[in-house]
Amino acid sequence: MKTTNHCKIIALICLLKSVNVVEAAKCQFSSPRTIKCADTQISDAIPEINQIASDYSLSELGQLTLQRTQFDNDQIQRGWLSNVAVPVEQLNIENSTLSTIQPRSFSGSPFGPLLVLILTDTKIDTITSGTFQDSKLTNIGISFNTFHPISVEENAFGSLQTLRSLGLQKCVTHDAVLNMTGPNAEIPSLISLTLSSNDISELSGSSFAGVKNLKVLYISGSKIETIEQGAFDPPMLERLDISSNELTTLPKNLFRYVRGGITIVNNKWHCDCDLVWLKDMFHYYPYYFSHRSFFCSTPEGDLPYQDVDFCPN
Ligand SMILES: *[C@@H]1O[C@H](CO)[C@@H](O)[C@H](O)[C@H]1NC(C)=O
Ligand SMILES: *[C@@H]1O[C@H](CO)[C@@H](O)[C@H](O)[C@H]1NC(C)=O
Repeated sequence: MKTTNHCKIIALICLLKSVNVVEAAKCQFSSPRTIKCADTQISDAIPEINQIASDYSLSELGQLTLQRTQFDNDQIQRGWLSNVAVPVEQLNIENSTLSTIQPRSFSGSPFGPLLVLILTDTKIDTITSGTFQDSKLTNIGISFNTFHPISVEENAFGSLQTLRSLGLQKCVTHDAVLNMTGPNAEIPSLISLTLSSNDISELSGSSFAGVKNLKVLYISGSKIETIEQGAFDPPMLERLDISSNELTTLPKNLFRYVRGGITIVNNKWHCDCDLVWLKDMFHYYPYYFSHRSFFCSTPEGDLPYQDVDFCPN
């Protein structure tokens, strides 16, 4: 009897061990040149990444995705991935308790060719001017599942002379926007900025003074109530989306430099004398807008602007 139990226990241990071995594969290769790791510690993922790179003879990783990955003390610092033997072009960190990014975390090996960085649903709370120092990123996307305000130091992205596209969703307030793209910032390479689903409330005349070459600006669904004259004066702007905010009016000439692609729908437009200019612009220059009409919020409900007398007498 005793021996049988003993055997059973040994068999059980072996069974558990083999299950363990199967579960240990936390990283997987997918074509083309992508490795995805999930539910693991970063220290356990690194040898697996190297193993996969060697099994598939990869000389460069197009994309590395770290999902629900644990980082020591929830932070990364310069060199945190330096034991990965293949250079990485795009890094995605998703659904992670990562909270602190030390300066220069995205420079040095293996980030020589790193162009794209996507942080989705992490716990990061601050971006400083050191965060992206020495990197050559062209695209950065940071978003959360629920609004989680992060602080952005003044001109935090200014060290990136290569940055073309930046998206921050569900994470910034107006003060963070001012720090990032306002009068004390300078990101001359930035072409496209997406600030949707944030809690911005207002845009000042100088909110985008630091991004003079901006062509595309999306700020829909960001609870904006007021926009000051001059906010959209970056002279190259050719697409602008301020839909689904809480706007009731806009200063005259707000769109004076915008070259088209304007989306204003889904706000609470209060169509009175102050907005006659917008009505006229819609009427005479419909090709500046991406919709054919917009609705005015009136006591009788929402009405197409053509049906509203903006300025009786
Ligand atoms: C993130 O992880 C938590 C728990 O690990 C899970 O409940 C949630 O659905 C995940 N979110 C996403 C976007 O995967
Ligand atoms: C704006 O920048 C200043 C100085 O860098 C900083 O103290 C402040 O916390 C930042 N504000 C936000 C909302 O990020």
